[in-house]
Amino acid sequence: MDKLFSPFHLKHFTLKNRIGVAPMTRMSASEDSIPRQDVLDFLVRRARNGAGMVYTEAIVTDYESAQGYSGQARMLTQRQIDAWKPVVREIQKTGSIAIMQMFHCGRMAWPEVNPAHRTIAPSPITPKQDNPLTKSPYPIPDTMSRFDIEHVITGFVETARGAIEAGFDGVEIHGAHGYLISQFLSSYSNKRSDDYGGSVKNRFRFAHEVIQAVNKLIPDDRLLITRISNWGVADMEVSLFDTKEEYQEIIKLLSDEPIDAISVSTYEFQQTAFGTGKNMAQLAREVTELPLILCGGIYDRASAEKALQDADIILAGKSALLNPHWVEDVRTNKTLKRYKSEEADIAYTSEALP
Ligand SMILES: Cc1cc2nc3c(=O)[nH]c(=O)nc-3n(C[C@H](O)[C@H](O)[C@H](O)COP(=O)(O)O)c2cc1C
Repeated sequence: MDKLFSPFHLKHFTLKNRIGVAPMTRMSASEDSIPRQDVLDFLVRRARNGAGMVYTEAIVTDYESAQGYSGQARMLTQRQIDAWKPVVREIQKTGSIAIMQMFHCGRMAWPEVNPAHRTIAPSPITPKQDNPLTKSPYPIPDTMSRFDIEHVITGFVETARGAIEAGFDGVEIHGAHGYLISQFLSSYSNKRSDDYGGSVKNRFRFAHEVIQAVNKLIPDDRLLITRISNWGVADMEVSLFDTKEEYQEIIKLLSDEPIDAISVSTYEFQQTAFGTGKNMAQLAREVTELPLILCGGIYDRASAEKALQDADIILAGKSALLNPHWVEDVRTNKTLKRYKSEEADIAYTSEALP
């Protein structure tokens, strides 16, 4: 049986195959926080070209402090929601499902692009590197108060509400790559002494509260997914789990949440972790029954099949971005190249991608 192209049952959905397009930020929106039309069309085209699941770029959850890059999108106003409606409809017409990913940048925020010019995080620790976009240091974040925590959760809830209204089949809470939720999970960036810091369970509390609050408005016929990773965009330490035990404890805590799948984001899915000889998906599989979505370094049929031994659905980032026919090329087992990160910078140009 061709497992890659076999259907997969995810809650009430039947995915037509096991292949998805990973969430990819495109920084194309103007002041209205609506992506450029060609960026929206790109997602529809990827669905038409065979992907069983299509993710949006990371959608910013508020107008205060969530945004980390210029030109990011929101799903909070009726105009923003209406802009996504035809995109979702067209994706669904192909038999594919549409998932909205949402995030808050935390200490990776870029105050100038946030209307409130504010940066907040679990603790007042800046990334070591400069902001690559401004070439200057990130500002010291304000320590999130109880009020801030509730305010940020409301942003996730309102954004999810927007996605449901737009017709999305599901929403994903971005808990990976060193952004806000990841910052709470990490003992490197979370030095709090209240209920949100210290033990793994306490550091997980913020993720728990976000998931619980969002879940309340997710209808039974839609999906709720969380993304997690052991790599990130700045100060790798933020996104690294200290030990295998800590990672597996978080996977177990996630499994107790009302979510439908865990998306494991890696830089290279085959890479083994914590000296165990096992990769991140295998370590997750040991402690959870939830469906697993796996991404990172999947670029041809062989790598896709290998990844699918450890997960239920695989996602492609760079290959899906740069090769419009990627799914069909995988089907026919075409010899494919592995794209480099620099090649993916084309995502941020004003050029329409094929
Ligand atoms: C241009 C670009 C933008 C990305 N934006 C996001 C994002 O918004 N949210 C996210 O979770 N991951 C994002 N990623 C990471 C991808 O989802 C994926 O995890 C990563 O590219 C590794 O997969 P690959 O080896 O197939 O490219 C982005 C990657 C690229 C290349």
